[in-house]
Amino acid sequence: MKSLDEIGLEHRTDKASNHHDFLRFYDRRLSALRNHSFTLLEIGVYRGGSVRTWSEYFPNATIVGLDITEECVKYAGGNIHVRIGDATHTDFLFDVIQEFGVPTVIVDDGSHRWDHQITTLQVLFPILRKGGVYIVEDLDTSFNGHLKSAPFDGLSPISAFDYLVKLSRCVTGDNALDDERPHDLFIADNAPWVGSVEFGRRTAVLSKKTDRQAGSF
Ligand SMILES: C[S@@+](CC[C@H](N)C(=O)[O-])C[C@H]1O[C@@H](n2cnc3c(N)ncnc32)[C@H](O)[C@@H]1O
Repeated sequence: MKSLDEIGLEHRTDKASNHHDFLRFYDRRLSALRNHSFTLLEIGVYRGGSVRTWSEYFPNATIVGLDITEECVKYAGGNIHVRIGDATHTDFLFDVIQEFGVPTVIVDDGSHRWDHQITTLQVLFPILRKGGVYIVEDLDTSFNGHLKSAPFDGLSPISAFDYLVKLSRCVTGDNALDDERPHDLFIADNAPWVGSVEFGRRTAVLSKKTDRQAGSF
């Protein structure tokens, strides 16, 4: 059976080991779902490399790719669905979820702007199916080297990486947080649902617990 990375290399997604090298990191987290029937939602289709990869790796899943670029519809077919719209618009995201069902896997590979990465997490993590996986890619845009080339900060005073670190403090600190206040209401409400936050090279994978009291799966 082919690994996720082998499939990604064949479909020429930049998530494969010849570029970002995300897929070997994800395989450990996603392999349990390989033959399951579920919805995977990815923001950012570009040239279709990742939706084709997900489609082959998860043959029984419904793969939904979102992009602002009209021509991305040509990558739909089989179990791949593409919807065109701005993923920073909540009504668009809710329409897509209404159409395809609550996702078990969400991949944010869209604009890579801090404000978009954070607000998309705030909107979609509460909706993610319990036991699901939420991925935020290209987190290297949270660092100075990329800020020099483009305004990745957008409207956010805090980088997406630093925001996930704030969330991680609550997940790991748990009851020992004592009188330390969570960074914001999203983190206060949702940290009890986060089983783990795993940082990899340029990416992070969050797992959602099956219930609020349970440990990480
Ligand atoms: C890095 S590429 C996606 C690559 C693809 N996931 C892959 O691995 O092959 C980012 C894509 O996100 C799209 N994008 C950027 N901002 C967006 C937004 N606000 N809503 C939806 N798509 C967006 C761009 O048009 C671009 O095609």
